[in-house]
Amino acid sequence: MALKITVIGTGYLGATHAAAMAELGFEVLGLDVVEEKIDMLRRGEVPMYEPGLEELLRKHVAGIEGSTGRLRFTTDYAEVAAFGDIHFVCVNTPQRHGEYACDMSYVDAAFAALAPHLTGPALVVGKSTVPVGSADRLAAYLAEHAPVGEDAELAWNPEFLREGFAVNDTLHPDRVVVGVRSERAEKLLREVYATPVSEGSPFVVTDFPTAELVKTSANSFLATKISFINAMAEVCEAAGGDVAKLAEAIGHDDRIGRKFLRAGIGFGGGCLPKDIRAFMARAGELGADQALTFLREIDSINMRQRGQMVELARQALGGGSFLGKRVAVLGATFKPDSDDVRDSPALNVAGQIHLQGGQVTVYDPKGMDNARRLFPTLGYADSALDAVRGADIVLHLTEWREFRELDPAALGEVASTRLVLDGRNALDPELWRRAGWTYRAMGRPTA
Ligand code: UDX
Repeated sequence: MALKITVIGTGYLGATHAAAMAELGFEVLGLDVVEEKIDMLRRGEVPMYEPGLEELLRKHVAGIEGSTGRLRFTTDYAEVAAFGDIHFVCVNTPQRHGEYACDMSYVDAAFAALAPHLTGPALVVGKSTVPVGSADRLAAYLAEHAPVGEDAELAWNPEFLREGFAVNDTLHPDRVVVGVRSERAEKLLREVYATPVSEGSPFVVTDFPTAELVKTSANSFLATKISFINAMAEVCEAAGGDVAKLAEAIGHDDRIGRKFLRAGIGFGGGCLPKDIRAFMARAGELGADQALTFLREIDSINMRQRGQMVELARQALGGGSFLGKRVAVLGATFKPDSDDVRDSPALNVAGQIHLQGGQVTVYDPKGMDNARRLFPTLGYADSALDAVRGADIVLHLTEWREFRELDPAALGEVASTRLVLDGRNALDPELWRRAGWTYRAMGRPTA
């Protein structure tokens, strides 16, 4: 009989995982404690913008015409426990307020709510990004609090999906990593991932701490690449070099690779910044903080980029204050193809300029509602053209395709001054310069 799968927490990770499991042919029950979210999902609506996710949900959610009916949702833990052979825990682990450490309260609450209902054998699989050592603790918790005792087993299976590519990354993962303590757990997880593994995804079996660490170290490595190239941008800036050419040239070395070497205003979002901070905090608890002091530098290089963008804009406007200056900001989300504005470098830059007296107008293809909620005092426009109308300077801060496809000549007609700063090194400098714009980017020479 086919495995029955439950997914606890239907945010970014959980909603995508649930839909992907249904796509792989399993019967799936998703749970969230937020009723409105469950109501939306039952109607086949996704609470955030993620390309392809709504279509995948609608293909499987029970009650939607033409669907397979394999995917249902509930708010009831007893129903989840009775339904599933495998329970994936996908709740979020944000940064603790005012601290570096990770807030485990949602994970702990999910285990506390599920455990008392586990009266038969079950595999609980953690997917959330957690401090190393959490799986050991949670396995002991399950054995103690589940009526079935040690037959409520734990496994750890970190998730590496990127926003904007979540569906594809889940159905065709670069690798599947599982931390297990028994052959039974490994066998069940091999069954879950049989399709992607048969299509070529490597299946890495390891222990709990290694599985937890794979996730945090992968994100630390990615953050390090970005801050490395941003540090090179600073040096290029000082020496008159071109960081885009430099990145291209070093990237030809396979050992370095070309990806994640785009200099600009740095990384943001709900993962990289908080994950490297939580990693440092956890290393401190383990007495290994010296091993990760470099991450403090990675974090500060990253945060510095935002201030440097503001400074570059101030200098480009003549070096005085922003008072009375009209600043068009293209992009609000932390990356393109997402409506996520959590720790968005773009909004941070916009906010700083606004606080310094600039008259900021923001436009983003998908992030407007979230941006308005977070920064209600900024100005907003309904299109790139409207944002640029009357602007003294244009800041390109999130590299949406829509912005790359803009016609600089048409924008030049409505701007007050043809001055553009590319905070993502993603526009075509020649295109803009030919249309009469002064183009500046971080770490690149002025023409
Ligand atoms: C990241 C990891 O990539 C993913 O594997 C993990 O599961 C979750 O965290 P995500 O937060 O979706 O995914 O974004 P990602 O594509 O990694 O980008 C993170 C940030 O880095 C964005 O703000 C992006 O603009 C920035 N970035 C990325 C750069 O500044 N330069 C680059 O070259 C690449």
